[in-house]
Amino acid sequence: MIALVTGAAGFIGSTLVRELLKDDVVEQVIGVDSVTDYYDPQCKRRNLSELPSSSRFRFIEADLNVLDLYELLKNIDVVYHQAGQPGVRKSWGTSFADYIDNNIAATQKLLEAAKQSAKLSRFVYASSSSVYGNSEEYPTTEISVPRPYSPYGVTKLAAEHLVSLYAQNYGLPTVSLRYFTVYGPRQRPDMAMHRFIASALNGRKIELYGDGTQVRDFTFVDDVVNANILAGNSTAVSPGAVLNICGGSTVTVNDVLDTIGSLAGVKLQIVRTAKVAGDVFKTAGTNVGALREIGWAPCVSLEEGLDRHIRHLRASLI
Ligand code: NAD
Ligand code: UGA
Repeated sequence: MIALVTGAAGFIGSTLVRELLKDDVVEQVIGVDSVTDYYDPQCKRRNLSELPSSSRFRFIEADLNVLDLYELLKNIDVVYHQAGQPGVRKSWGTSFADYIDNNIAATQKLLEAAKQSAKLSRFVYASSSSVYGNSEEYPTTEISVPRPYSPYGVTKLAAEHLVSLYAQNYGLPTVSLRYFTVYGPRQRPDMAMHRFIASALNGRKIELYGDGTQVRDFTFVDDVVNANILAGNSTAVSPGAVLNICGGSTVTVNDVLDTIGSLAGVKLQIVRTAKVAGDVFKTAGTNVGALREIGWAPCVSLEEGLDRHIRHLRASLI
């Protein structure tokens, strides 16, 4: 089995590569990443350099919008499409062009090549809970009406629709996984948990957007990786399926801060600033669909996941 991981230098992509390399059934993992400068590219280079050295891993530094994807996909069995321009709060203004290029255009180009690939058995797409926006029902299910609240969410939903269209029209065996706020070792440095923990450990002030009553269904990265592997191996799931990948810990940001303070053993210095445009009030999903279709449920509790995240960041800050 040959796997392609796009976004292989990123937070989730690099963790997925690490896990795929543990599986003897996977003969080769090809990673593609353009190492964008959305956050410090050194973090991505470190993600790559810390992968266990293996002759079964090949990394291609390239933009999906430029690379010859037809040639690349010829021998691929499973595509794990993690590449994208993430970040809800930065998706306004002129940055939106990056969201269109890296989320919509790159996905369309990859789907065109996937359509021609004779060998491909599964195309897994990293979708997002941001497609729901401020939902009218909780927990949100995959049939809840998506109403994105940020430009980022609009692009993730547009790409998800493209993925489903290639399944409906060409029978491409796709699965879209809607991840809910992922955290854990190697998390992107613009995200809440990383910023909170790094500030707590360095004795810096923590910036809290709004009053901290916003709720997130935080999901540990190993659980997200496991969902990808189950979806990639699944032969039964119908093409075009869309599944929530949510952590089962729907908590307020204030609760998270309390837990970080007690696990890290420090008194946090919190500074409140205004709520940021695009930030939804609540995400909370159900994993019933993922359990039924691919046998997936989250395994890592918020407390355990935060403890692992804190220990990883403490070690890397030394
Ligand atoms: P990340 O930024 O760490 O990883 C994405 C990687 O994609 C980056 O390394 C970037 O350089 C690469 N990339 C971007 N555009 C590219 C292009 N055109 N060609 C090649 N490489 C390109 O982000 P992440 O948090 O690991 O997120 C991975 C995926 O999961 C993204 O698609 C994101 O939208 C989605 N997602 C993430 C979360 C989360 O909480 N982290 C939640 C929902 C969905
Ligand atoms: C995250 C990812 O960044 C998106 O890429 C992803 O698609 C999305 O999850 C998703 O679930 O679909 P977000 O929920 O905003 O988006 O994740 P965090 O950056 O971890 O923020 C969580 C909460 O903490 C937000 O309400 C945010 O406003 C708040 N926050 C974040 C702060 O109060 N301070 C900070 O410094 C950072």
